[in-house]
Amino acid sequence: MKWGCCGQVASFSRKARSGHLRYCDWSNSKHHKLTNHPSLVIASTHLPYLRTKRALGLATTKDTIPLKMSSERQAANAIRFYDSKSWDYDATWHNDFTKRFMTYLDIQPGQKVLDLACGTGLLTFREAEAVGSSGQVVGVDVTPGMLAVATHRKTQGGDKYANTTFIKGDVLHLDETEELKGKQFDVITLASALVLFPDPQAAIEHWVGFLKPGGVIALDATHPRNLVSGMVLERVARRLELPVPYNRSWSKSEDTLRQTLESAGLEVDQIITVENQAGYGRRFYDMEQWDDFFVENVIVKDVARTFANNDIRRKAQGVYKEEWEKLAIDGKVEEVDSVFLGIARRRKWPTLPG
Ligand SMILES: C[S@@+](CC[C@H](N)C(=O)[O-])C[C@H]1O[C@@H](n2cnc3c(N)ncnc32)[C@H](O)[C@@H]1O
Repeated sequence: MKWGCCGQVASFSRKARSGHLRYCDWSNSKHHKLTNHPSLVIASTHLPYLRTKRALGLATTKDTIPLKMSSERQAANAIRFYDSKSWDYDATWHNDFTKRFMTYLDIQPGQKVLDLACGTGLLTFREAEAVGSSGQVVGVDVTPGMLAVATHRKTQGGDKYANTTFIKGDVLHLDETEELKGKQFDVITLASALVLFPDPQAAIEHWVGFLKPGGVIALDATHPRNLVSGMVLERVARRLELPVPYNRSWSKSEDTLRQTLESAGLEVDQIITVENQAGYGRRFYDMEQWDDFFVENVIVKDVARTFANNDIRRKAQGVYKEEWEKLAIDGKVEEVDSVFLGIARRRKWPTLPG
């Protein structure tokens, strides 16, 4: 099965059979029988009803949207990719970016914060300082190496981080994480990770169930020209129908992030373009540099061995060059070091129809 297609999350067939609606999850061929009477309790696997509940501000943590099939490969790839990077991760631009990310948040002492895909805890520890000893922060990540660094820093911090807990878990399946059962948070954050997920809207809808009514979610998505060599790689993989370890083609502007948040039933407070994410602003590459990036992305960084087969690699080389050339203007390919940061909240009250 290929990933990256939100159609994988579920396909629905509405069958007018004795008032029942059937939900078909074709990854495991399970059929869940559901009543279509809106006044009855809604089963947690029924996406359209869940979306409506989200939009009405009626969802609870029981109403989380399962994203099983598409995320399994995503989580495995993430572990392969980030495990090897864990011990050097804090020395990268992510440290500075999380500092800036914090400046857009209004976290108050005593609040409960959930930091998703927390990595080594760069943002989590800053949040822990903001909520103080009367607050609580939970960081969730799937990569053992990243969590090992986070846990090491927590131990070093002693009492200062007594309010912080790290949990190993897949953020697309928070409902499977025992420690989060029945919990809701004032603030949920996700830094530098949204573009790793196959269906960003479904992922956000899943997280909204863990947000208190009126609670805030903050997350970022890449500018379309951010890490341009990776963008070309994604186009190549899509053309060759191969899996890619991220999904950023949907993130085109502040507006696309706004729409994604709104479609997930949230009220958007603000969308900000944060420039200089990694500190280089804007840069231009020559046409012939495609080859260096091809080697880096398709050969060196191919942890999932997607391009390991020689035939595939040869095909990928031609397509990579083509896609690189398509991006060039006056012989140069531009890279823009920006991200869109969205801050949105779960509605306090249900919106009335009409
Ligand atoms: C670029 S790092 C960002 C880490 C941190 N938020 C920061 O800003 O420093 C992306 C993180 O996402 C985590 N991740 C990717 N997919 C995940 C998943 N399905 N569930 C939990 N964590 C995931 C990776 O393990 C990695 O730590």
